[in-house]
Amino acid sequence: MASLRQKISASKFVLVLSGAGISAESGIPTFRGKEGLWKNHRAEDLASPAAFQRDPKLVWAWYRWRRALIASKKTNAAHEGLVRLEARMPRYQLITQNVDGFHGLAGSRKMIELHGNIWRMRCTSCGEKIENHDPDLPELPRCLKCEALLRPDIVWFGEGINANDLEQSIQSCRACDLMLVIGTSAVVQPAASFASIAKEAGAYLVEINPVPSLSGLSDVTLVGKAAEIVPKIVD
Ligand code: OAD
Repeated sequence: MASLRQKISASKFVLVLSGAGISAESGIPTFRGKEGLWKNHRAEDLASPAAFQRDPKLVWAWYRWRRALIASKKTNAAHEGLVRLEARMPRYQLITQNVDGFHGLAGSRKMIELHGNIWRMRCTSCGEKIENHDPDLPELPRCLKCEALLRPDIVWFGEGINANDLEQSIQSCRACDLMLVIGTSAVVQPAASFASIAKEAGAYLVEINPVPSLSGLSDVTLVGKAAEIVPKIVD
């Protein structure tokens, strides 16, 4: 811990990649694993353009359920620890695969929400984006401008990541000297490749996960929960 803290303090550019595991202790289920969201739902039935075309009410029902769940929970010590780290580092970037908005809520600023944000909706016709925290969304929310169907502003399976976000993420992987990979199973591309891009470019790689996913790649693996470990290494 002490030598890792020193390493972080001496770093010029810390990059953090987070996944569902960082929100686990807030009470938000992860996607994979025994209690994961994908255990009872097939990703293709709920998080794909084809699913939305087939049954938009079902897809919206799932997102309304997740919005209500997230709204009832709070950020945890890991989200909050990263805010303190950002304030201290000369250069810092956070890339999250999470759509819960918790990093922003905690106060993270230099942040790329790679898979979108559950509190944003996008018009399927005119592309208008709307931030919305309404707990009582209609079954099928509609665009105020053109009345077409709105969809969650989330990157679904089979869709591409925003080109600027992807470019900035890859640049950060190449430029950082220390990367913290927290709470991701590292199976969904392109984020799954970010750690190896950073490592190949010479970064020191640290993974925090109770069930590590980067074995063989990371320089240090801290086996445990993000909310317990992050404060210990950043403070
Ligand atoms: P996963 O559900 O695939 O993986 C969650 C990871 O968090 C696992 O490696 C767990 O071991 C770890 N974990 C669990 N509890 C933890 C804790 N308390 N502290 C730290 N780590 C913990 O979630 P992601 O890797 O984020 O995409 O999944 C990537 C993408 O797949 C998601 O963004 C989502 C999903 O399908 C979309 O919906 C587009």
